[in-house]
Amino acid sequence: MNEPTQCRTPREIVAELDRHIVGQDAAKRAVAIAIRNRWRRQQLDEEMRREVAPKNILMIGPTGVGKTEIARRLAHLTSAPFIKVEASKYTEVGYYGRDVESMIRELVESALVIVRDQERAAVEAQANERVEGRLLEILAPMPLVSETDANATALRERHERTREKMRAMLLAGEMEQRKIELTVEQKAPPMMFTNMGAEQMDFDIQGLFEKVMPRNASQREMTVAEARKVLFEEACESLISSEKVNARAIDLAENFGIVFLDEMDKVVATEGGRGADVSRQGVQRDLLPIVEGTTVQTRYGYVKTDHILFVAAGAFHKVSPSDLMPELQGRFPIRVELTDLTRDDFIRILTEPRGALTKQYAALMQTEGVSIEFADDAVETLAGYAFELNQKSQNIGARRLYTIMERLLEELSFEAPDMNMGSVKISPAYVEERLDALSKNEDLSQFIL
Ligand SMILES: Nc1ncnc2c1ncn2[C@@H]1O[C@H](COP(=O)(O)OP(=O)(O)OP(=O)(O)O)[C@@H](O)[C@H]1O
Ligand SMILES: [Mg+2]
Repeated sequence: MNEPTQCRTPREIVAELDRHIVGQDAAKRAVAIAIRNRWRRQQLDEEMRREVAPKNILMIGPTGVGKTEIARRLAHLTSAPFIKVEASKYTEVGYYGRDVESMIRELVESALVIVRDQERAAVEAQANERVEGRLLEILAPMPLVSETDANATALRERHERTREKMRAMLLAGEMEQRKIELTVEQKAPPMMFTNMGAEQMDFDIQGLFEKVMPRNASQREMTVAEARKVLFEEACESLISSEKVNARAIDLAENFGIVFLDEMDKVVATEGGRGADVSRQGVQRDLLPIVEGTTVQTRYGYVKTDHILFVAAGAFHKVSPSDLMPELQGRFPIRVELTDLTRDDFIRILTEPRGALTKQYAALMQTEGVSIEFADDAVETLAGYAFELNQKSQNIGARRLYTIMERLLEELSFEAPDMNMGSVKISPAYVEERLDALSKNEDLSQFIL
């Protein structure tokens, strides 16, 4: 069966997410369970497996609190096909724009990347062997020996010795810069006569095109190192069956695919809306069959969407999930709320995650030979400003930290190369000096912080 090799337990998935995202435990648990459930379903007998539908998740929470970030990190840590799309970018069938089915085509593309990588890894050794064989044929060609030649045996033996010497030199990496002549097959040029995106196409026109076009072969001079790459691609192409890859990719997308539907609240029409709003309702209607389970035609074959997991997210400020079409609401039975971030959360976000902003800036300054160190109470002060600004003006969640940090370190970012080595300690006074006046002036802070 075509399943991701290892599956982490929910606890492990949450722990992994914890390394990047502060708080939002309910959302982390929900996605972790959903991921594990895919694996559980795969252990069942076929009949039962057909029955178990994924429990789709709806993440609700204010802006900038980690909804998209959870999805992004999840994508990295599962080896499942995963795409993130904005529900608001689709238009109703018949309107100009992307139709919702294109998300399934994208999902298959994502599955293909995974399967191709796996297949290539599986044939790598064999492909490399072929590459070596081809290189040796070029570097030490078999001499023309006629059977009647008295020296035939001696010639063959000599060739064999040269070949072995070459092999050793190749292995030692001594031949990489040597120029050789290689016969390369040229593929059909990419088709230009359609302005549709490749994933919008229902079938593989390009593939057909390549099959019917005569292939040109031409001699090209290149180094052994370059030839290796060309030959490796050729070997992979002949060792891997693209039909098999396509079938596996579809299977993987159908059983393990995850579609993250961001901006779900944007497909809800607001009170008394018309025009664009009507089309938004239309997108919901188009989404429904895909989420319920339907068959979508892609260029690689038909994809059943019954077991694809959908995780939707939205701020739901002006509208509520109950404004979604009832059938669609029913398809997202797991609701998780993400909470507003507190000052303490900001402190943790600034310092704890692997890629925390303070660590990022410190690393960047280090490239200039300047070490910066953030005092604990300075981080507290910083978090305090972020929190206050969110309260006073628009609440943009953790995104506030980006603007504030940029402002705080603007001077240092400019001066660092001229400081010729040094260390800077960021103290509460340093923070206040740079942010206090700005944050008190409402007009200014709206633009800058
Ligand atoms: N809980 C958190 N822990 C760590 N970083 C966070 C957290 N929440 C947000 N961030 C940071 O803030 C940025 C914005 O968060 P994210 O994109 O997840 O917002 P969102 O909840 O999807 O908001 P929106 O509804 O506006 O799309 C991210 O780049 C992320 O680094
Ligand atoms: Mg988002």
